[in-house]
Amino acid sequence: MADDRPLWGANPASDGAIKMMAEGLQRSSQEHDVTKSPIFQEVVKHLGDQRTVLDIGAGVGRFTKPLAKIGCTIAALEPSSEMRGYLEAMIQENHLESRVTVVPDSWPAAHPVRVEVALAAFVIHFAPDPVAFARAMEEAATTRCILAVHVDPMMQFVQDIWPYFHPDQAPPRMAVFADIYPKLLAANIVANVEIIQESHGPRFRDKASVLTMLASRLDITEDAEAMARLNKLIQERQEDWGSPQPRRAAIISWAPPLNA
Ligand SMILES: C[S@@+](CC[C@H](N)C(=O)[O-])C[C@H]1O[C@@H](n2cnc3c(N)ncnc32)[C@H](O)[C@@H]1O
Repeated sequence: MADDRPLWGANPASDGAIKMMAEGLQRSSQEHDVTKSPIFQEVVKHLGDQRTVLDIGAGVGRFTKPLAKIGCTIAALEPSSEMRGYLEAMIQENHLESRVTVVPDSWPAAHPVRVEVALAAFVIHFAPDPVAFARAMEEAATTRCILAVHVDPMMQFVQDIWPYFHPDQAPPRMAVFADIYPKLLAANIVANVEIIQESHGPRFRDKASVLTMLASRLDITEDAEAMARLNKLIQERQEDWGSPQPRRAAIISWAPPLNA
């Protein structure tokens, strides 16, 4: 449940994390048929005659691409210029310019958008106020608001080894379903919930990239002695960071109030 530790990932652009995130998302797009994803199917189920979708935090376009390919018109909102580079390349390669408008903004956005379905897949945990985030989705969508959120936190290993480096600070943590859903409920957003298996994170097989990622998360890149300690931990505890982790996610789906 929620506690007062800082949320990691609140600033995903702070290090090489965007590149790593983009690679994980692209791998997920390539290895899985996204049209079989219950997230994709939930969007399709609620499309109206206009087939308009707002893809909030579109990333590399994992959902934008297959939705555009089935004839949806998408506003793909993405605040990270680095991530937009991947998104725009995907749009060009697939000749989807007439279907997809890239919006360089973060959610809640400054400019009003009106669509049938608002989707935010694995984004709300970056937002400081999940209720304001969800309310803005209700303003934007005429038929459905759909969130996908992690049930199991990603990169639990960062939290596990945090005390070795910062014994006086609580480890940062990622907001997950157990934090987010009660806040929505308390705001009278009562949604359908489906638990699914989902994996789109970075895959930590190679020790060098694990070292880079963990050092940046632990904020020790400038400290040679701490880096050596981390390297040792990585060598000794490969089972902890290299084993498959539970990867449950929740689809939270509801009709915006005017249409309920
Ligand atoms: C884990 S990725 C998910 C990408 C995509 N939705 C998917 O599931 O494939 C999260 C994305 O949300 C973006 N993001 C972070 N904070 C955001 C905010 N407040 N509004 C919109 N997008 C945000 C990040 O830049 C990143 O591209």
